[in-house]
Amino acid sequence: MTAVIRFVCLLAVGFAQWAYANVAAPVGDPVKIGFFMSLTGRDASFGEAALRGARLAIDDLNAAGGILGRPAELVVEDNRSLPGESATAAKKLIGRDKVVALVGECASSRTLEAAPLAQAAGLPLVTPASTNPRVTAVGDCVFRVCFADPFQGAVLATYAWKNLGMRRAALLIDSTASYSVGLAEVFSKSFTALGGEVVASQKYTGGDKDFRAQLTAIRATRAETIFLPGYYVEAGLIARQARELGLAATLLGGDGFEAPQLLEIGGEALEGAVYSTHYSSESSDPASRRFVAAYTARHGSAPVGLAALSYDAVGLIADAARRAGSVERGALKSALATTRDFAGVTGRTGFDENRDAQKAAAIIAVRGGRCVFVDSVRP
Ligand code: PHE
Repeated sequence: MTAVIRFVCLLAVGFAQWAYANVAAPVGDPVKIGFFMSLTGRDASFGEAALRGARLAIDDLNAAGGILGRPAELVVEDNRSLPGESATAAKKLIGRDKVVALVGECASSRTLEAAPLAQAAGLPLVTPASTNPRVTAVGDCVFRVCFADPFQGAVLATYAWKNLGMRRAALLIDSTASYSVGLAEVFSKSFTALGGEVVASQKYTGGDKDFRAQLTAIRATRAETIFLPGYYVEAGLIARQARELGLAATLLGGDGFEAPQLLEIGGEALEGAVYSTHYSSESSDPASRRFVAAYTARHGSAPVGLAALSYDAVGLIADAARRAGSVERGALKSALATTRDFAGVTGRTGFDENRDAQKAAAIIAVRGGRCVFVDSVRP
């Protein structure tokens, strides 16, 4: 980033701090919000982005007087991208740290581990980015800041059919990830309903490095597009191996593609790929622009969707506490449930009767080695 952009960002942040200068500093016991994510391990890029967003939200809250006049504090647990560790993290945060609410995870499988513990404790869990429908179905304590996969899968199938003119699709699914299995199912149904044909359905295990056997089987089906409902590491590797095997099919993905490392791993093999995501840092919305300026000044690069969604997850909890006048679990949960029009950095957010948010999906295409925003699809 050029020095000029950094200077302008710092000016914007400086102005925001000056505007807050007359607010009373928070006092008393901190209000603890538990945060669990993949800060290390395979999906570390997700955890890093989410943590940056959540920390910025905590700092902004504290600069504006805290939560009910008390300092907001983030208690952070790393699940190392490993199965089982999110349940352990949730237990610690609820039992030992006495947090008032949980923010996490990104990957649906990991949120699904922690959600029953939050539900049993009657403590709200707000997931920034888990899109599998089963996540909020766990119970009335579980909320989602983003769209869900029945929407995302239909958007992708329609885009592939109408905009890209695809008729024959192959699926390559991570059978160990709820997200991948669920999104593949919706995509398949929607694509077939439109008249398309799903010509192959191949599986892998998250963490795999060699996809040549599955890709060779797909090559034989003459699929025009390969739908990869997976995360960025595998998506990048699959892209490379597909091109090495001579597959020219258009690669199609969901929000799991979105990480700065996607292009580092997949390189030119990703050229022409299309995926859906939650947010564009180019949005002209004033709240989003303030967030992008503050984030960019701090980290030297623009935020991805996960950072923005995590910022809003923390903000939604603070907003509920303010409306409830309390951080007691039950009161907080009820106030969250009545959130209808919270002005977040990812747009207006409200929870429906299933505690899901209705948000637009952004369609991104990889062009000239860059991820370019091409369209926005409303629910
Ligand atoms: N939606 C994915 C899941 O449910 C997680 C994800 C969200 C990944 C946003 C990247 C960006 O598993």
